Amino acid sequence: MIPDDQIEQIRESADIVGVIGEYVELKRTGTDYRGPCPFHQGTNRNFSVSPKKKIYYCFVCHEGGDVFTFLQKRLGLDWPASVRLVAEKSGIEIREVERSHREGPDPRARFWEMNAAAAEYFTRVLWEDAGAEPAREYLAQRGISREVADRFALGFAPREIGLMRAALNALGYEDAALLDGGLMVKPEEASEPRPRFRRRLMFPIFDALGRHVGFGGRVIGEGEPKYLNSPETPVFTKGKLLYGLNVAKLAARREERMLVVEGYFDAMRLMAAGIEEVVAPLGTALTETQAQLVTRYAQKVYLLYDADPPGQKAAFRSGDELLRQGAAVHVVTLPDGEDPDSYVAHHGADGLRARLGEAVDLFERKVQILERAGWFGDLAGKRRALDRLLPTIRATADPLMRDIYIARASEASGVSRELLAEEAKRNPSRSGASRARRDSGAASEDARAPRGEAMGPPPGMNDAPPPDEPGFQEQFQRRPFRPRSGERRRGWNQPEERPSIRGWGRTSQPGALTERELLRALMHQRGSVDAVAERIGPDGFRVPAYGRIFRMLLQVGEDASLETIAAGLDDETVRVLQEEVLVEPESIGDPTATITQALNGLRIREIDEEMERIERERSIAADEEKDALTARAKKLRDEKRALGGKSFRTQGFRKRRA
Ligand code: UTP
Ligand code: MN
Repeated sequence: MIPDDQIEQIRESADIVGVIGEYVELKRTGTDYRGPCPFHQGTNRNFSVSPKKKIYYCFVCHEGGDVFTFLQKRLGLDWPASVRLVAEKSGIEIREVERSHREGPDPRARFWEMNAAAAEYFTRVLWEDAGAEPAREYLAQRGISREVADRFALGFAPREIGLMRAALNALGYEDAALLDGGLMVKPEEASEPRPRFRRRLMFPIFDALGRHVGFGGRVIGEGEPKYLNSPETPVFTKGKLLYGLNVAKLAARREERMLVVEGYFDAMRLMAAGIEEVVAPLGTALTETQAQLVTRYAQKVYLLYDADPPGQKAAFRSGDELLRQGAAVHVVTLPDGEDPDSYVAHHGADGLRARLGEAVDLFERKVQILERAGWFGDLAGKRRALDRLLPTIRATADPLMRDIYIARASEASGVSRELLAEEAKRNPSRSGASRARRDSGAASEDARAPRGEAMGPPPGMNDAPPPDEPGFQEQFQRRPFRPRSGERRRGWNQPEERPSIRGWGRTSQPGALTERELLRALMHQRGSVDAVAERIGPDGFRVPAYGRIFRMLLQVGEDASLETIAAGLDDETVRVLQEEVLVEPESIGDPTATITQALNGLRIREIDEEMERIERERSIAADEEKDALTARAKKLRDEKRALGGKSFRTQGFRKRRA
């Protein structure tokens, strides 16, 4: 058993011209070598070997492959023997994956075999079973012929619970094995195993070496989710696989490019139309491993994603990952509402090739979007635009490309190249770092998950909310107040905690506590609600539940009962009202003083934030702009001093003594 990565390494370092040259008389023509084809015994120089792409190809008999397949075919070797021979010729020592001492088969083989057996079963069901009629109709309606379906080994998982189990049991695959391989699930320990896939069109998924590792299943008819993949198994890790790679890798070498699409149907349609250098991730944005896989076969990558904002967002995320691997990344924009599948169905492969010809560099596309949304119009927008471009510049591994991107960002923003280069060199800021963390986490989630999520303009960019916001809300939602009676009693006697609510308030986010105290005081002094709204606006609370309560207070008026207020709120907000706002009324003290102090606190929060913004803008400001910023900063500092001066993070209600 030779590890996959080593096989690739052998392929890369093998001298394919030297190896094939032992059997064929090759002559250099340009970057390739030509000779008579040994496969159809040709006499003209129709047989070409490319040392760059590491492949051979005969223009007459169309025989082609890599250095391993050449030896397999020419010498009648099996696969491992051809790999060993090439390794030997290239001076690479093969480290075999360790096996159990009694030379047994690869433990993963049973998964590959079982999946292959299941695929065969699903295919039989698709074409022979009466219950699969809707699936056959579906394929016909989407214009997928029997021939294409067979090429991709499509199948159908029946609705019935016992059929697959019986068929695979009969082939010797016991329930335990089917459960291990993710073909069946047991909702509870005691329950009967059930098939994981039911009433789904089945796409077998292969690894780069063509071994059968799992399935993606598309629901036929109504049902959620639309696509369901195999679970993680010893052979199936969705972040490390690419649908279609086993076929696409040779084509990608030949064409010197790889297309990345979002869906199985997209990949299948393009391949069927003759564009074979195409892969799809398994429902996620590209991971680092997947980007490495892609760039192993081609340095030029085309991203073909939906034109809608989530599609663009996934494309940009994948793009940065590819740039990190040194790829040249292009974005293909399809008309609204089209995906590569529908586009090829409507306009054919040539139509799509024309779009590929118009593809725009990933970075250029980002700049275009920002320009069209008017982000370079003022200083604040410029700063935010650059904050969106800098991560991509930083991700770009190729120094030449990086230089070009810096020049382009400079042209668009008017900020000097030197300054941008310096900013790019600098480590990403605090917010940049947390964004990177979120990205890498999100990369392993469904690329489709962000659908419907609110996104700030411009659409599709890897938009980071203002630095404090995500943590602020996340922390809030993750740590709701759960009073535990024992704890609360203990806390009650701790003087330094007296004014706040015990068991709560461990959040370090600025403002959350202030908002809560403000709301608590307002519950006791409802006559001040309107005045507070005039100061901070009806949306002045950032904790979502507090905001809802505050707006409800505004709406119902001073005299409304608690019941009326609660009646207008959802359950979760009512819970917050009860557990965080109405508790321990005795700790409130003087509501008027509390309200004043809280309003000052919230104003200081605003000032701190604006100062931070100014600091960031100052770094890219021209001299005359700098003066205005300095003046503004001074005004803010004065106001803050008048308000009590303390920075928001260090002042607060927790430390206030009753
Ligand atoms: P799309 O919803 O864009 O699918 O998801 P599609 O390929 O255009 O689907 P059709 O054309 O309606 O059949 C793209 C990819 O995202 C993953 C799948 O890998 C799918 O191919 N996906 C989608 C999921 O993993 N789960 C889902 O629920 C939906
Ligand atoms: Mn589609």
